[in-house]
Amino acid sequence: MTSTSETSVAPAAAAKVARATADRQAPPANLVIFGAGGDLTKRLVVPALYNLVRARRLPDAFSIVGVGRGEEDTSSWRRNLRQMMDSLIADGGGEFRAAGLDEAAWDWLEHRMTFLPGDFTRPEIYSKLKSLLAQQSSNQRTSNVLFYLAVADKFFGSIIEHLGRAELTRQSNGAWRRVIIEKPFGHDLASARALNAQILRILGEDQIYRIDHFLGKETVQNILVLRFANGIFEPLWNRDHVSHVQITAAETVGVETRGKFYDGTGALRDMVPNHLFQLLGMIAIEPPVSFNANDVRAKKTELFSAIHPISPDDAVRGQYGAGTVLGKPVRGYRHEANVAPNSMTETYAALKLGIDNWRWAGVPFYLRTGKYLAARTTEIAIHFRQAPYALFRETPVERLPRNILTLRLQPDEGLSVSFSAKRPGQDIEIDGVAMDFSYHDYFEPLTAVGYETLIYDCLIGDAMLFQRADTVEAAWCAVQPVLDAWAARPPSDFPNYAAGSSGPDAADRLLQRDGHAWLPIGAHRRKGIADD
Ligand code: BG6
Repeated sequence: MTSTSETSVAPAAAAKVARATADRQAPPANLVIFGAGGDLTKRLVVPALYNLVRARRLPDAFSIVGVGRGEEDTSSWRRNLRQMMDSLIADGGGEFRAAGLDEAAWDWLEHRMTFLPGDFTRPEIYSKLKSLLAQQSSNQRTSNVLFYLAVADKFFGSIIEHLGRAELTRQSNGAWRRVIIEKPFGHDLASARALNAQILRILGEDQIYRIDHFLGKETVQNILVLRFANGIFEPLWNRDHVSHVQITAAETVGVETRGKFYDGTGALRDMVPNHLFQLLGMIAIEPPVSFNANDVRAKKTELFSAIHPISPDDAVRGQYGAGTVLGKPVRGYRHEANVAPNSMTETYAALKLGIDNWRWAGVPFYLRTGKYLAARTTEIAIHFRQAPYALFRETPVERLPRNILTLRLQPDEGLSVSFSAKRPGQDIEIDGVAMDFSYHDYFEPLTAVGYETLIYDCLIGDAMLFQRADTVEAAWCAVQPVLDAWAARPPSDFPNYAAGSSGPDAADRLLQRDGHAWLPIGAHRRKGIADD
């Protein structure tokens, strides 16, 4: 018999094992941020650096150069960033657990910051940057440079060309030069190919780190651990046992102040070939031979390339009308700021995908995402095949609870498995019950904005969580038929879902056709978890 201590793992002990990774500082480097005064820098990049300082992951030999337009100088830049940090901390976000700013950590960071004003569309700034970097490199005794392009995507290509012309991307004497760019990587297959071709003329693929911030989420990274560090899931992870998979990214925000960007983009481009495909990738790839970046990314590309051409009949689009979200009345999309009054842009998209490979042939993957839905939730639900219930003749098969493994990625991070149990009593009555794992029962809340791991991984040269050119193109290639079909046939029923609902009826019919139904949005969340 096994002893109790072997059979039950106390949360505290489990957490200890999970934390037992070696402390490892990033190598000496200079970080150059283009778009130093922008929102991404203020809200995510700098707060992530601050958290990395607190976690002692940045080396002493580290400098930060902010390139930005405007009237700023080093002291006003530092002051503005500090104000932003103070307000983020005052807002009490879980990403900063301390009551106030950690002055020592902030000082450490602030003293390494230099602002370089100038127009990054002009060549002059690059020669100034070159001299500044030469100086920083000799102070820090390293020529490693990470360029972070926290700018609108239309500038990616030209900034990289300027860097190339100024010979700032050249790697020599063992020093590396890397560039981080953020989605969108193109707006369709043709523009993604063009962007890749343009930047690959200057940089090697191993110098490019394309961020999809969903891969910065702990729960998303955990999918690989769940699948490949446990013996019990993988044997069931295939067409023999899985009936279908539902991937949901539902939001309770509308387009807010992003009308201009969003109206030219839409839910499909904004969320599907990038964020939702990252979730699809993690859940459906074949086991890689290692967690080496290229091994994992090759499997993802292979998976995306195996997506069966999507028929327009398997795609549903929606746009929200007026409604009530989290108790507050909100206006319809066409009345949002900077949105055309007759806009045909979708704020909701649902797709049914088939994957033509040995493991998944015949298993539908249903993806949905939308703004202003009933609850905020990002989750993946694996629906297993029904057991042959000949034994329970009194219970109709359709009334038997389903086995569903739900990975709650946010906001109530955890995992649950639903299954059948006998209701206590003299009769055999079957009831649906669930086993639940919740992150917060086992682990300390994480102090992270979600960019820490991504920036750190880039500094140590681990590209596993970043997109490779062929993966990006394979994803666009999969959704291109839907983009084309939607562009050719404008919707006739917009707005077709009320803000605060579960989305358009057509999305329900997409599953009903196959004898399935969406899980209600937010159904697996435990009570008391706030939406935003
Ligand atoms: C962004 C999209 O990439 O991801 C937004 O442009 C969306 O429209 C956001 O709201 C969702 O990210 P998260 O981390 O809040 O789920």
